[in-house]
Amino acid sequence: MKQYPETIENRWDVLYRDYPEIYNTFASFSYQPSILQVVRERFDVVGKTVLDIGAGGGQSALPLSRYAAQVIGVEPEAAMRAVAEQSARDNGVENVSFFAGSAEAIPLPDGAVDMVMAITAPLAVEEALRVVRRPGVLLQVGIAPHWYGGELDHIIGDPAPGLEAATCDLTERHGFSMIDFDSVQDYGTQNNILRTYGFIFGRRAIAHLKRTGQTTIRWRFRIHYRWV
Ligand SMILES: C[S@@+](CC[C@H](N)C(=O)[O-])C[C@H]1O[C@@H](n2cnc3c(N)ncnc32)[C@H](O)[C@@H]1O
Repeated sequence: MKQYPETIENRWDVLYRDYPEIYNTFASFSYQPSILQVVRERFDVVGKTVLDIGAGGGQSALPLSRYAAQVIGVEPEAAMRAVAEQSARDNGVENVSFFAGSAEAIPLPDGAVDMVMAITAPLAVEEALRVVRRPGVLLQVGIAPHWYGGELDHIIGDPAPGLEAATCDLTERHGFSMIDFDSVQDYGTQNNILRTYGFIFGRRAIAHLKRTGQTTIRWRFRIHYRWV
């Protein structure tokens, strides 16, 4: 049986490579509202061909496929792609396909999609502009500054300071607009929150969760978008 350490201390690369099933469970606990709900209120995805960069295990691509005509997921990590492909098969979803690639190297011709989305994943603007047809939209959803790990940011510290610099670039260099919104994720039980959120965000988070007994986390997300 697979052995799990108590935590991977914010090593997202290790999470995606070695524990894609934990990311999948973590991302599956319900958010109120969900990212897709908020995105759909502001951006019309119905009937569109949507590129989902950093598609992971299909957590954004599969729900999107209910509304979009076609969803193309691009994901560099083979273990995550395997989860996505299995999940699409299990759910009989036929308008989604997943490809190896990255934000910086999208395996699509110029002008192939109506919308480029990166949901809690990086966006490389020049490459995204290449594959989107006009009129179209580029959209990136990330964690708002000082909300790493959601409301426990101040407990965890910020082990990934580069993230903020990348999103500043979207507004300052590339003229993106932004929208912030809050969402509460409910893990249901203390065991669930410890073996997913705690597993990812580390010992300080685990100690805090054990002390408080909380089973929800408030997140603040930031949508960056640019019409083209
Ligand atoms: C937090 S997950 C997001 C998965 C999914 N979009 C979701 O909403 O849950 C981030 C994903 O981005 C991928 N990723 C990391 N660097 C990337 C890059 N440069 N280009 C594209 N994807 C990348 C990771 O392998 C991981 O699967």
